[in-house]
This record gives sequence, structure tokens and C-alpha cells, in this order.
Amino acid sequence: MSPGTIALIVVALSVAAWGLFMANIAIRRERKAALASASGSGGGTTTVDAPKEAEPEKQPDVTVQKVPEKKKKPLTNEQLAVSRRQFLNRAWTGSFLTFLGFFGMGTLSFLWPKVLGGFGTEINAGNYDDVLEQVGPAGGFAPLFIPEGRFWLTFYEGTGEGVAYETTGAVDTKLVALYRKCVHLGCSVPHCPTSSLFECPCHGSKYRLNGEYYGGPAPRGLDRFPIVLSGSSVMVDTGTVVVGPPRGTNTWEQFAEPQGAFCVPV
Ligand code: FES
Repeated sequence: MSPGTIALIVVALSVAAWGLFMANIAIRRERKAALASASGSGGGTTTVDAPKEAEPEKQPDVTVQKVPEKKKKPLTNEQLAVSRRQFLNRAWTGSFLTFLGFFGMGTLSFLWPKVLGGFGTEINAGNYDDVLEQVGPAGGFAPLFIPEGRFWLTFYEGTGEGVAYETTGAVDTKLVALYRKCVHLGCSVPHCPTSSLFECPCHGSKYRLNGEYYGGPAPRGLDRFPIVLSGSSVMVDTGTVVVGPPRGTNTWEQFAEPQGAFCVPV
């Protein structure tokens, strides 16, 4: 269970507890008021005493003065019935508010941006020198897949012309972070080690090592994410998707053509 879900449950339980607490206070207050009015008015009945003969005056006792005790009268059926009705009203109101709270927070959790790491945030792809060694000439130009960010990191030494390169730091870092989602219909695109292309298994779209369009039904090259270096770390902003280069783009001659056999037949 994610921390966000736990926080939502805690808040919802707090709202429910608050509603019940407030209902309880209101009921107690009204019962007190009912008791006070019952004892003050003497139950609403009046009696007329017969006139008594005058008694000899007694000397007041100056040492002890007793306050006459008031007898509490039990609540009438009518008063009890009102309390029950009020309790039910408040129970219904509390339940409704609790439901609204859960519903509202459930909706918010869908709309709230995921800021607790993972896809959609800035991801540390590792030490720059290590990454470059792995995906560059020393590593045979084998792309590195970062599952947390759903992207491929590939080496790049092309001209860097076009918005897709200028806005992603490709020339400065010699790296490209390619979104693995096929721009045709969204399948995950694996890398083919023999052809050095990215080949989509769904309908056969093919993309060069730098994500440019090579063949198939895809309308353009693979989308990508901006890369910046933070100290020695490669930081990839997966919250910003940069649209892939249009068909016909070819900025790196070395990988313009397949290096061997296709993995997905044409
Ligand atoms: S989804 Fe990749 S080619 Fe159709």
C-alpha cells in the first residue's frame, strides 16, 4: 500500500470520527437541556393546595441552612422519542458526510500527480561515466533499459538537428532517453541486438538506435525525455515527453541502416 493511500485512509477515518464526536456532543447537549426544562417546569403539571392555617413563626436556624434537593424527573416518552429521532438524523448525516469524504478523496487520489518517485518524476539513471561506458562504443552500443522510468538510454553522436534533440540535451550528454512506448499504438518496444534497431513486435514498426523512424506503420520516431547532468548523475525527467522526430529524419549516419538481421520480420 502506497504512503498516499495510507494518508487518505487516515484522513477519512479522522473525518468519520469527527462526525461521530460532533453528533455525540450535540445529543448530550440536547439531553441536558431537556432534563433542565423538565426539572425546572415541574413536569408541566400544576396543583392547587388547600389553604392552610397559619402556623406559629419559627426562629430561623442561623447555623445550618439546608438547600432543598431538587428531584430529577425522568424524561417523558415524548422527550425520549425526540432524542432517538435526533440521534438517527445525526447518524444519517454522519454516514453521508463520511461517504462524501471517501468519495472526494478517492477522486482526488486519481487526479493528484504522482510525486513520490517513479514514472512521471525525475529519475536518476546512474553515474554518467558508468552509463556512457555501458551504452557507448566500449559496451558495443547496447542500450540500457531503466524500468522505473520506462525508457531506454542509448548513446548518441549525431548532428543533433531538430527539436527532439535540441530540447533533450542529446548533444551535450551524448545520450538519448527513449520512451519505450511505440508511437503507433502504444506497445512496448524492445531492442534487437542483431539489427541494432528498436523493433515493435505488434505491427513491425522499426526505429533506429537514436529512436528515429526507420520503417513500419509508426507516424514518427520514438518520443523521448530531457536529460540533464546533476554532478556525476544522469537525471531523466520522465514528467516531460518530447515528441519524436518526424519521418525522414536522419542525424547519425553510423546507425542509419540495420547492423544485421531483423528480430521482427518485415
Ligand atoms: S504498436 Fe508498435 S507498430 Fe503498432
